[in-house]
Amino acid sequence: MSTLPSEIFLHDLRPSAADMRAAVLAGLTRRPKRLPSKYFYDTRGSQLFEQICALPEYYLTRAELELMRMHAAAIGTALGERALVIEYGSGSATKTRLLLEHLADAVAYVPVEISRSALTASVARLRTTFPHLEMLPVCADFTQPLTLPEPARAPRRTVIYFPGSTLGNFDTEAAVQLLAQMRQTMGAHGAALIGVDRVKSSEQIEAAYNDAAGVTAEFTLNLLQRINRELQADFDLRAFRHRARYHPQRERIETDIISRTDQEVRVAGRHVHFAAGEAMRVEISCKYSPESFARLAARAGLRVTQAWSDSEALFSVHCLRPVGRAT
Ligand code: AVJ
Repeated sequence: MSTLPSEIFLHDLRPSAADMRAAVLAGLTRRPKRLPSKYFYDTRGSQLFEQICALPEYYLTRAELELMRMHAAAIGTALGERALVIEYGSGSATKTRLLLEHLADAVAYVPVEISRSALTASVARLRTTFPHLEMLPVCADFTQPLTLPEPARAPRRTVIYFPGSTLGNFDTEAAVQLLAQMRQTMGAHGAALIGVDRVKSSEQIEAAYNDAAGVTAEFTLNLLQRINRELQADFDLRAFRHRARYHPQRERIETDIISRTDQEVRVAGRHVHFAAGEAMRVEISCKYSPESFARLAARAGLRVTQAWSDSEALFSVHCLRPVGRAT
């Protein structure tokens, strides 16, 4: 367990057990069944995700880190002085370090993260490198409306940092809604810095979500373990398997949990039936081209002012600003 330096206050707006129960039961009632991917990130899930980031097949994290090492200075210049940095789904905040090092006189850092353990650990670590930067951690589901803490100093602009291809977990409509919400939060003079995975060969993408060591499968099935523990369910993890397939027309990975047998599971007092071979959707990971990302942004009233890629063009980071504003 990691603890925060005593002068840092954590705003705890975590989804309650009742929220999770309602969301899980609603998903299990739909046909096809589905579960929200945000519940992957309990303590174990966040650890498994960190392991995924180091897998040979999972090129995303390495590509984005290389990109940030190459371009962080230019990105810092584009964002300008005295920024208030809000990060959604900050996780271990490894890339954030590269951003903060290149931002002149940043006013404060506001990480918003659903996993409390990941949040406290990342803030405690960043604290040692940036002892004078105000840190205002918020434990919350960033898709829900939230009131963000105010920094002590007045910022020149609000910058929303949303790296890691987390936006990929949202379908088009939800992504537009989230981007529009970010546009509100950043205000007329703000900006967003968004990292997305690029469209590439099905083989390379599928390998990233079906690693040989089986860590991704464990990450996926950990969701059932979490539901067992927190919602008094009795999923037998050996009776389900992970499946991740790339859908080239939709340009996204679709991850399902497949029931290996015909079975009944108890979840929060309900009986839930699974047919043999039945698929339950647990995650999508959308991939973008520079064109499809610009179209998505435009639907939320944002335009791409600059974009950067790694040397192999695997991953992109875009700077977005409200439409109708000067750069
Ligand atoms: C953290 C949402 C970006 O979709 O690539 C990794 C999560 N799932 N392997 C992704 C994930 C399976 C990851 N994101």
